[in-house]
Amino acid sequence: MTAQEQWIETRIGRYGKAAIDEAAALIRAGQLVAVPTETVYGLAGRADSGEAVARIYAAKGRPSFNPLIVHVAEMKQAETLGVFDDRARALAEAFWPGPLTLVLPLQRNAKLASLTTAGFDTVALRMPAHRAMRALLDASELPLAAPSANASGSISPTRPQHVAHTLGGRIPLIIDDGATSLGLESTIIGIDGGAARLLRPGPIGPDEIGGIIGPVSARNENEAISAPGQLASHYAPSKSLRLNAIEADEGEWLIGFGSISGQASLSPDGDLIEAAARLFDLLHEADGQPPPRIAIAPIPDTGLGFAINDRLRRAAAPRG
Ligand code: TXA
Ligand code: MG
Repeated sequence: MTAQEQWIETRIGRYGKAAIDEAAALIRAGQLVAVPTETVYGLAGRADSGEAVARIYAAKGRPSFNPLIVHVAEMKQAETLGVFDDRARALAEAFWPGPLTLVLPLQRNAKLASLTTAGFDTVALRMPAHRAMRALLDASELPLAAPSANASGSISPTRPQHVAHTLGGRIPLIIDDGATSLGLESTIIGIDGGAARLLRPGPIGPDEIGGIIGPVSARNENEAISAPGQLASHYAPSKSLRLNAIEADEGEWLIGFGSISGQASLSPDGDLIEAAARLFDLLHEADGQPPPRIAIAPIPDTGLGFAINDRLRRAAAPRG
């Protein structure tokens, strides 16, 4: 927080009509609310207001070239914001509401602040499934820009306490509806002309996407500009992280998986769904332990393991 920014009291309101009504009033007034989705907690602000979106960037301390995901309540609203071709429509029908984000050409008269798309002529759209985010979208009757509700460069939040840890004092309200079920940010597919591309691996795997629209190519490394949130440090804990660890070295706190038990385990049974749901929780926990470094057991690169390893490689990358 810079000296000019004011400290504000952050309240945590249990999910229910009162909290949603209060949240919708804050949103309409251009303020921010942290709200759970099925993936991670999002920091929501009205996507048609440059000021609201600026508050998001400020609260997160986020690099200003990073465009935000716009959350919508229904298909009709989505079509006023992005241009859907047949492939985009088929994916939306198959996976919305759910953990899929589509990057599409921006609709010409879209009522969106340019800051929301960081000046790009594309827009990232997602129709979430979580009851709290859906209730807020319905009550505010606005598309909501919502990046993950953490300060820039720290781990995505899967519990209200994680949000309070890095955004406490910066936002007025956190809606508490417990831990998120998926624990991993949405899969992002780019369909803005040409081949569909996987911009960020997530809960919906490439094969599931391919089953609807045919093979999708992976993002190539030069596309860092069009998927700027893929910055290496985006998912980083504050300590160094060693991957594929079979046992803990001196000074390491080991996160286990399967037969490697560690100080705590992502999933003793080697279940990748459980591991994804616990990933950010355990990185938070490891970050708060006395040992100065974190190590993590190998995770198979299949199914959700692909997305988990993507996050882990970024978290382990040296920061500059
Ligand atoms: O699960 C999720 O997607 C969560 C919940 C809250 O919905 N949101 C989330 O938002 O992860 P955020 O802001 O942390 O990640 C947004 C990602 C970034 O990697 C960003 O670069 C990418 O979406 N993105 C947004 N608009 C884009 C665009 N026009 N072109 C390419 N990438 C875009
Ligand atoms: Mg994030």
